[in-house]
Amino acid sequence: MADLERHDYDVVVIGAGGAGLRAAIEAHERGARTAVVCKSLLGKAHTVMAEGGIAAAMGNVYPEDNWRVHFRDTMRGGKMLNHWRMAQLHAQEAPARVRELEDWGALFDRTPDGLISQRDFGGHRYARLAHVGDRTGLELIRTLQQRTVALGIDVFMECTVTRLLTADDGAISGAFAYRRDSGQFLAFRAPAVVLATGGIGKSYTVTSNSWEYTGDGHSLALAAGASLINMEFLQFHPTGMVWPPSVRGILVTESVRGDGGVLKNAAGNRFMFDYIPDYFRKETAETEEEADRWYTDKKNNRRPPELLPRDEVARAINSEVKADRGSPHGGVFLDIASRRDADYVQKRLPSMYHQFKELAEVDITAEAMEVGPTCHYVMGGVEVHPETAAASVTGLFAAGEVAGGMHGSNRLGGNSLSDLLVFGRRAGTAAAGHAASAPAAALSETALAEAETAALAPFGRQGGENPYTVQHDLQEAMNSLVGIIRTAAEVEQALERIAELKVRVQALTVAGGRHYNPGWHLALDLPHMLRVSECVARAALERQESRGGHTREDFPGPREEWGQLNVLCTLFGDGIGLHRKPLPGMPPELAEIFEESG
Ligand code: FUM
Repeated sequence: MADLERHDYDVVVIGAGGAGLRAAIEAHERGARTAVVCKSLLGKAHTVMAEGGIAAAMGNVYPEDNWRVHFRDTMRGGKMLNHWRMAQLHAQEAPARVRELEDWGALFDRTPDGLISQRDFGGHRYARLAHVGDRTGLELIRTLQQRTVALGIDVFMECTVTRLLTADDGAISGAFAYRRDSGQFLAFRAPAVVLATGGIGKSYTVTSNSWEYTGDGHSLALAAGASLINMEFLQFHPTGMVWPPSVRGILVTESVRGDGGVLKNAAGNRFMFDYIPDYFRKETAETEEEADRWYTDKKNNRRPPELLPRDEVARAINSEVKADRGSPHGGVFLDIASRRDADYVQKRLPSMYHQFKELAEVDITAEAMEVGPTCHYVMGGVEVHPETAAASVTGLFAAGEVAGGMHGSNRLGGNSLSDLLVFGRRAGTAAAGHAASAPAAALSETALAEAETAALAPFGRQGGENPYTVQHDLQEAMNSLVGIIRTAAEVEQALERIAELKVRVQALTVAGGRHYNPGWHLALDLPHMLRVSECVARAALERQESRGGHTREDFPGPREEWGQLNVLCTLFGDGIGLHRKPLPGMPPELAEIFEESG
């Protein structure tokens, strides 16, 4: 392979979002020769879309906040299916990761006392999201990107990895990739690879996810021999834009509700009062005004029902729309205009203000927004060791959204930015440690030739289908059959459609050449999207209960036996195998936290 571009590193990080950059910085600082390989331009990763803030129990606004309460909120939000050790490390280490970002130049909003400001978000007992207006992800990426560049870490931008390479003993030996602009192939030899590829939302029609989120990291891990855990749990963020159609799904940050916005149906009612679970309910409120007064009493640390965990709010919106109480374009109304003055809205939510003004011609300081659920985040992902972020394949690590376990069945808002900092750093540490002790295996020339042949296959076929048709059909199937509410019959139908699409994808044809060819790029993404969608559907069929981001109309409510079980997916030939794995037991000193008041 004479024209193959070859590189040698200790650690290759795939993905340049928050987890990838944080991992790369750590690996580099520990002496590893490190490269970042990313599909997009540096600074454009999907992390910039995480708007509301970084959850960390710093206690700047509520001094009584601490890691124990954050741990408890996270576990309760995940309906106790989280890996307890990941949730513990996350809650304990998040404050240090935020302070470190500030040391590296991040400019957070401040409290009147000059501390880092922290805002309210759903499911968090105390206001604990460190934020920069509603552009926190952007500031996080900007800060990590500057540090990456300052440290001189090599970044391969606009490169897509199509395969992980393994040695005879199954350990990681590197990765095969192509440059999106020229079509040039690259081979990276490295004993450690960190996956930081984000999520899978582009397999859905309505999603807040950007174009990179095709599930390639999940799929590459499966193909290398790793397992995915709990892929049935998908988060539908309650508030995406619904109108106009061209912007449907774009995120409307939870900060709107955190900063006082309320949800209303077509009749103008605060419908969330009708969906309050028992643990949250005040029995005696007779009117909406009285309930509002009680639930928004911050002095007594109460929370309005709009700040229930996301799965609960998304299901409530879904029910209102189904009951014909929705807004004209199939959502509900989110109103901050009647609750906060215009200056406050513009200062706290500048991106939302511009987003609605420019994309929907709505002035959110004067009118309500139309919003509805949008596929936002996958709680499932690569099964990793909590301390090291190591997958079961030697030399493979995963951090951020591509990793599973941390969030259980439902993620609390703001916990993804802290997750990617905490576990990005841990993955970088462990990957550098592994590389220091493991020799880099030689790459197999046969495997490289096979990877090249597979990548070029769509050009060699005649008269096949266009990749965009297959993508469209997959998105439709997942959106309508494996969405917020599922039944066995629907999921089985989705699996039949996925099986048909797997056949169709073998016959795709791509026109044109290798120079920046989006049709070819999609043809290479589609097998990943199909494999990961199959995992979601098979795991959704397997879990016969409703919990967090997995609601089965035919199995309403959580079931005790399922509260002790993870569902694991592995690859068998071209198919997906499933098995059930008991949750690790929580030590008594952590279990006691759930008995504590406050
Ligand atoms: O609503 C938001 O700003 C999203 C944040 C998150 O998903 O953590």
